[in-house]
Amino acid sequence: MSNYHIKHLEEYFQVYRKSVRNPEGFWEEIAEEHFVWRKKWNTVLDWDFSKPEIKWYDGAKLNITENCIDRHLHIRSDKTAILFEPNNPNEEARHITYKQLKEKVCKMANVLSEKGIKKGDRVVIYLPMIPELAISLLACARIGAVHSVVFAGFSSTALSTRINDCGAKMVLTSDGSYRGSKTIDLKGIVDDALEDCPDVKSVLVAKRINSNIVMKKGRDEWLAPLMEKAYGDYPPEVMDAEDPLFILYTSGSTGRPKGMMHTTAGYMVYSAYTFKNVFQYREEDVYWCTADIGWITGHSYIVYGPLANGATTVMFEGVPSYPDFGRFWDVVQKHKVSQFYTAPTAIRALAKENLDFVTKYDLSSLKVLGTVGEPINEEAWHWYNDHVGEKKCPIVDTWWQTETGGILISPIPFATPTKPTYATLPMPGIQPALMDENGEEIQGNQVDGRLCVKFPWPSIARTIWGDHKRYKDTYFSAYEGKYFTGDGALRDEVGYYRITGRVDDVIIVSGHNLGTAPIEDAINEHPAVAESAIVGFPHDIKGNALYGYVILKETGESRNRDNLKKEINQMITEHIGPIAKLNKIQFVPGLPKTRSGKIMRRILRKIASKDTSNLGDTSTLLNPEVVDTIMKESL
Ligand code: WT7
Repeated sequence: MSNYHIKHLEEYFQVYRKSVRNPEGFWEEIAEEHFVWRKKWNTVLDWDFSKPEIKWYDGAKLNITENCIDRHLHIRSDKTAILFEPNNPNEEARHITYKQLKEKVCKMANVLSEKGIKKGDRVVIYLPMIPELAISLLACARIGAVHSVVFAGFSSTALSTRINDCGAKMVLTSDGSYRGSKTIDLKGIVDDALEDCPDVKSVLVAKRINSNIVMKKGRDEWLAPLMEKAYGDYPPEVMDAEDPLFILYTSGSTGRPKGMMHTTAGYMVYSAYTFKNVFQYREEDVYWCTADIGWITGHSYIVYGPLANGATTVMFEGVPSYPDFGRFWDVVQKHKVSQFYTAPTAIRALAKENLDFVTKYDLSSLKVLGTVGEPINEEAWHWYNDHVGEKKCPIVDTWWQTETGGILISPIPFATPTKPTYATLPMPGIQPALMDENGEEIQGNQVDGRLCVKFPWPSIARTIWGDHKRYKDTYFSAYEGKYFTGDGALRDEVGYYRITGRVDDVIIVSGHNLGTAPIEDAINEHPAVAESAIVGFPHDIKGNALYGYVILKETGESRNRDNLKKEINQMITEHIGPIAKLNKIQFVPGLPKTRSGKIMRRILRKIASKDTSNLGDTSTLLNPEVVDTIMKESL
């Protein structure tokens, strides 16, 4: 029996039982057999969810890039590690072998180090999906610097907030990016952001679109000439198991983003283990995850998980609709992709288009299909299964979070029978619990509740950077002794889990996790706005779209409403990014509030979803009359 590569359902149950009976023994065996260590651990696990404090493999020493690159060199030196597929299909794809990857990572490690970046320093990476992005994560890890990637669709304000929150000294960016037929001026966004970031002393700029950008003297430098001069070897910095590897921001229920901090050894073991099992990866496969490395999916399942397994991982710069809606399938055919991992929102968008965009390509290389980021609806699941997988590729609906570092609930292909819209069973080592309103765990099957996890797994985030109290309050205070996910879930008659959606103030739009508070804060900055409330409503491509209820100040009442709507969305674009724009904006005289002043979002959600048959008891509201007005004028 192999813990590391599960092949049938019975084996899954055996491995799962073992992982729960003796978690430490289980994770020790995996760590020992599948990774290289400079020194082994003293203890496998120390934990206390009440503090919370979690340590995996304490005392061990390692470098994750040695595991992701160096150790493969004697057998996979000329194997493609990163297969770069550019935005423009006429530009040639680039194969970066393990040997070349080692040289590039080492060169960049030398560049960073010559610029004064040391172990523990934070480096913010604001790059498009070009090879330099993956290389920069690994270069930071090589020297022990902590990377914090900011998705290159975020605005300058969002970028500066994150740079200052983690105290980065350096930013890596590019002269711009391609996105379908458009180009985006990333460097201009960085320049704006840095007006508010006095501690950033150095900006390294990768060349991608050859645009005329302004280089600030003494601060900005082109990356390529530095790389050319740099030495192609750099001994991996020896790190402690619990040294931070990266910080990645996710939104929460206040305006400030949460910098989730992940550490080295546990993250490595868990991302590699789940990659191998969830995608049933084999040596000759070509694996493609369409996410952006700016999200956790890209960290764990484009970079670290695949490379730790010596895989070939595709990095795609473009979008699914360029040059046409067949692009994904064109790339699958061209590179003979075996595992394909994408978001339900992309599937829904493509399913709306002509089927010819799919059928004209040869997709016979595909073995496993994956989805992530939001619940997948039945219709999209079947379209994916019938037309992309041609009914022979299991679909892994993988549930996890930025905070969890890796996939927690997912079928194991060819082992777990799939069921549309169900993430099915917990990965080995994962002990889910459903909780009721009274804080009690719900036993048995055919039940639903709030999803928690009872026992730590190696890649759980260790803290929120600079705010351990918020980490405790957000994840470990709702249910004593348990990690609370913020999601609701049900467990069916055979114990399969189905994620039903967020139960907090986070809304998943097109697979992006958006907090209502930061959006409301952005809107309220508009001089004509007095107050606002954001809720989600069902949308057939995005999953959820955003509906904003806005109260105007007296000065705003006379203004043109269409212009105001545009300006409000412009505020959001500036403060967060275009992904957080509102689909609908309704101007209202007031918001339904409880007597303690809390906005009753439940009512607003129902109105936005046009589900007003049962609004519940509104008589306890401070201002029940406002509900009728909002309903009458709803969009
Ligand atoms: C939230 C986490 C994990 C990488 C991408 C998102 C939702 C995620 C699923 C799924 C239903 C899902 C949850 C979760 N979610 N995967 N397979 N089925 N919902 O990471 O931005 O941290 O968002 O995404 O609500 O809590 P994230």
